[in-house]
Amino acid sequence: MSLKNKITSDRLPKHVAIIMDGNGRWAVQRGEDRIYGHKKGVDSVREIIEAAAELKIEYMTLYAFSTENWNRPWEEVEALMELMVNSLNNETKKLVDNNITLKVIGDIDRLSDNVRRSLDDTLEKTGKCTGMTLVVALSYSSRWEMIKAVRDISYKIKEGKIDPANIDDKIFENFLTTKGIPDPELLIRTSGEVRISNFLLWQIAYCELYFTETLWPDFGKEELYKALVEYQKRERRFGKTSEQVHENEN
Ligand code: IPE
Ligand code: IPE
Ligand code: MG
Repeated sequence: MSLKNKITSDRLPKHVAIIMDGNGRWAVQRGEDRIYGHKKGVDSVREIIEAAAELKIEYMTLYAFSTENWNRPWEEVEALMELMVNSLNNETKKLVDNNITLKVIGDIDRLSDNVRRSLDDTLEKTGKCTGMTLVVALSYSSRWEMIKAVRDISYKIKEGKIDPANIDDKIFENFLTTKGIPDPELLIRTSGEVRISNFLLWQIAYCELYFTETLWPDFGKEELYKALVEYQKRERRFGKTSEQVHENEN
């Protein structure tokens, strides 16, 4: 029986974020090169987007390429960028048909012209969709994002447009690349690594974390359902006592 039946639809996380890790190891285990693992990883991306959209999850963020990933061997970086372009070109129509909007977070100035062209094309074509928002973190890291926010806020202060005394969570969030996107409520990381790797550090302040040994190319719909079932078993207290949480329910 599918675990899908165990998910309570009115208590789904609004936003699920995923650190898609383990492509390289998956390929090496099969005597293939790492790029083969990344290609297989694209199939998982497709399947997980479909599953999330079917469940009517409102936002899904996928960590596709980190600031630190620029330090990988250039052949691997090139292959990842080529995969990104091909995926965007091949999947845009499907995104539109499924009413999915694409958003990108990250330092896109570092991307080559042809990656940016494909991105711009998909962003434009999916811009009017009203279903799930798919956020791709590309050339992204949380420290990059936060430093950029501090810099941008500082310019506004210098121009006299922001009073430092008024800076609060809301103002700060308006300067993050995730502006307008609710914080993730569930963060999944595949491949057995138990770390955050510079991903959404501000936004996951109260997120439920879920780690699985499964490598990303093996992560399919049932694996997502399993994470959601686990999420729904957790009690989210936000600093309160368990009793207070239950009082609020009544
Ligand atoms: C995740 O898989 C994909 C990216 C980081 C782009 P990895 O390439 O990190 O796979 P492992 O961790 O080496 O197995
Ligand atoms: C994190 O995976 C980044 C992405 C999934 C895009 P890495 O494989 O780069 O993470 P570390 O370096 O092992 O922490
Ligand atoms: Mg990795």
